[in-house]
Amino acid sequence: MLHINALTKRFGDKAAVDAASFQVDKPMMIGIIGASGAGKSTLLRMLNRLTPASEGSVEFEGRDVLGLKGRDKRNWQSQCAMIFQQFNLVPRMDVVANVLHGTLNRHSTVRTLFNLYPEADIHRAIDILERLGIAENAAKRAEALSGGQQQRVAIARALMQDPKIILADEPIASLDPMNAVIVMDALRRIHEEDGRMVIANLHTLDTARRYCDRVIGMRQGRIVFDGTPDQLTTGVARDIYGAGADFSEEATSTAIEQPQKPLPESLQLA
Ligand SMILES: Nc1ncnc2c1ncn2[C@@H]1O[C@H](COP(=O)(O)OP(=O)(O)OP(=O)(O)O)[C@@H](O)[C@H]1O
Ligand SMILES: [Mg+2]
Repeated sequence: MLHINALTKRFGDKAAVDAASFQVDKPMMIGIIGASGAGKSTLLRMLNRLTPASEGSVEFEGRDVLGLKGRDKRNWQSQCAMIFQQFNLVPRMDVVANVLHGTLNRHSTVRTLFNLYPEADIHRAIDILERLGIAENAAKRAEALSGGQQQRVAIARALMQDPKIILADEPIASLDPMNAVIVMDALRRIHEEDGRMVIANLHTLDTARRYCDRVIGMRQGRIVFDGTPDQLTTGVARDIYGAGADFSEEATSTAIEQPQKPLPESLQLA
């Protein structure tokens, strides 16, 4: 399905991603882990064509992704929708309009400028919000929602594109543990129910182990681990993070199951 071969990104003489190769043969949920600066975001951005690759190739269903231009490139970008740590919503726009932005590729600029969306799209947007449990917020401004709700709006916007792949760059890094669970559960469900591939950069081991079928570990631009959560032992994790013998799993844990402290009010689920 997805073949990534010797994908490389150089900034000056430094390789942010260094000859990364892996293949995905069927839709699955993949977690990418690694220390800060390991190249996780750069890898996702190259897949989505947000950042040009320096070398290597990406093939999806037999097509050369890096060679796509113009409309074909935009089509690819809607087929592999991105979700970001900071949600990237339009804060003053209402939720449903933010979700409809996910169809931007398909409509003329004039239409979208005036918020003239086909009724069928509006119904679909509401259905998707319903599925994610946030339909009652459809008319609110995005900025009025909690972080976890905003991230679900961003997921809804991605789903509006009916993507084959969802690329999520640290989707829960700005969320408290309870919202992190809600958002990861939503991504997992989308993978299982719709058969979409999910590739998520995750900054914590426990989340990768708990949600992903496969984990890819990056260190200094290279893929140094590619296996199942079972194979991701503490020793392997220590290598990925380049940590010493004092490496502790807690250092890379979200404590997603048991929040240790009460959460600040601003982060609590509404
Ligand atoms: N636009 C850029 N110009 C120069 N160097 C860059 C640029 N973007 C990323 N880098 C460098 O490439 C390397 C990989 O960065 P990247 O953001 O992909 O890492 P990451 O694994 O996502 O880290 P984090 O966990 O902090 O998000 C880093 O050394 C970073 O400084
Ligand atoms: Mg990053």
